[in-house]
Amino acid sequence: MTAPLRVAEPTTVRVDLGERSYDIAIGRGLLARLGTRVAALRPGAAAAIVTDETVARHHLAAAEAALAAAGARTARVIVPPGEMSKSWRMVERVCDALLAERIERRDLVIALGGGVVGDLAGFAAAVTRRGLDVVQVPTTLLAQVDSSVGGKTGINSVHGKNLVGAFHQPVLVIADTALLDTLSAREFRAGYAEVAKYGLINDAGFFGWLEANWREVFAGGAPRDHAIAVSCRAKAAIVARDERETGDRQLLNLGHTFGHAFEAAAGFSDRLLHGEAVALGMALAFAFSARLELLAAAEADRVAAHLAAVGLPTKPADIPGGIPGLDRLMELMAQDKKVKRGRLTFILARGIGRSFIASDIETSEVKAFLAEKLA
Ligand SMILES: NC(=O)c1ccc[n+]([C@@H]2O[C@H](COP(=O)([O-])OP(=O)(O)OC[C@H]3O[C@@H](n4cnc5c(N)ncnc54)[C@H](O)[C@@H]3O)[C@@H](O)[C@H]2O)c1
Ligand SMILES: [Zn+2]
Repeated sequence: MTAPLRVAEPTTVRVDLGERSYDIAIGRGLLARLGTRVAALRPGAAAAIVTDETVARHHLAAAEAALAAAGARTARVIVPPGEMSKSWRMVERVCDALLAERIERRDLVIALGGGVVGDLAGFAAAVTRRGLDVVQVPTTLLAQVDSSVGGKTGINSVHGKNLVGAFHQPVLVIADTALLDTLSAREFRAGYAEVAKYGLINDAGFFGWLEANWREVFAGGAPRDHAIAVSCRAKAAIVARDERETGDRQLLNLGHTFGHAFEAAAGFSDRLLHGEAVALGMALAFAFSARLELLAAAEADRVAAHLAAVGLPTKPADIPGGIPGLDRLMELMAQDKKVKRGRLTFILARGIGRSFIASDIETSEVKAFLAEKLA
């Protein structure tokens, strides 16, 4: 991860949502332009940066310097890193800090961090003064290709993950791909699962490109920026068609029904990161599609081979520290997705890039399939 730090011309992806439309700017070194982008968008606005301790250590000074250079008054709210910060307690802390800093309706909240910061800051902004505008500055690969785009914000409840939240679209997304240089290899790899997902959903050409170029994507430079831009374009297109997930947006859940069950079984812990669970889930969704004779076994093997090549888990046995039992997994899957008369909704595929929503999958079929995979 050593490509030179220079500001190349950014790629811009437009998210088309009528009056709530916004740009995603993607490029290496873009954080240096945060101030001028913000000043152009909202002249004279103050900028309240919400970030976590780890991201603050690496990138907060640069973000503040960029904003100050453009003349913006800045404030900072720093939360502990990790999923635990998606809590009511942290929402209260962020909201109170924004109010204490006199952040007004015309000012901006800058979410500088991974999906945790983006979801928390986005939700706090949505409810403070009945809605403050947010600029998302994602700092993980997962956040750059997924969570910072599309307007879903929120926190966790004792009843489950992401159960409290709001749709609150950002007014701008700035994805500085150089920020990923400080991300751990494991976190980068986990985010890569969501990149591969876009190829598997509806872009076989992109999946083939990733098979040939994934090493360069990991190394940084132009191929990384390209992969992130293609991913953002794919997400933007789906969100523009179905902002509130009543239809097509469900395709983004490819690999997530199986994945969530394993993620929950591992206790949402370091044993299995979200992206790792998604990789395992996508391999299983393709294997399951092959079992249902929707696609050839060789096609499912190709998906698993690529994910395994980059070092992602593709079999339950790849999860360190033991595999949960079949009954427990089925229980978790039923909790996650509504089961209607013994049937589950899955995203399945007729091939790479040919995914679809299957809403009438027999639980017994899934159980028989998983029993084989756990054996
Ligand atoms: N809103 C959505 O549409 C959406 C979509 C997918 C996921 N999510 C949410 O996103 C969250 C996961 O996001 P994540 O994977 O980005 O995790 P994260 O935000 O917890 O970041 C992972 C870790 O990397 C650290 N980090 C972040 N950027 C760094 C950088 N540049 N250098 C060094 N360290 C850095 C963080 O401090 C953290 O410890 C989950 O809560 C999930 O529910 C939301
Ligand atoms: Zn995901």
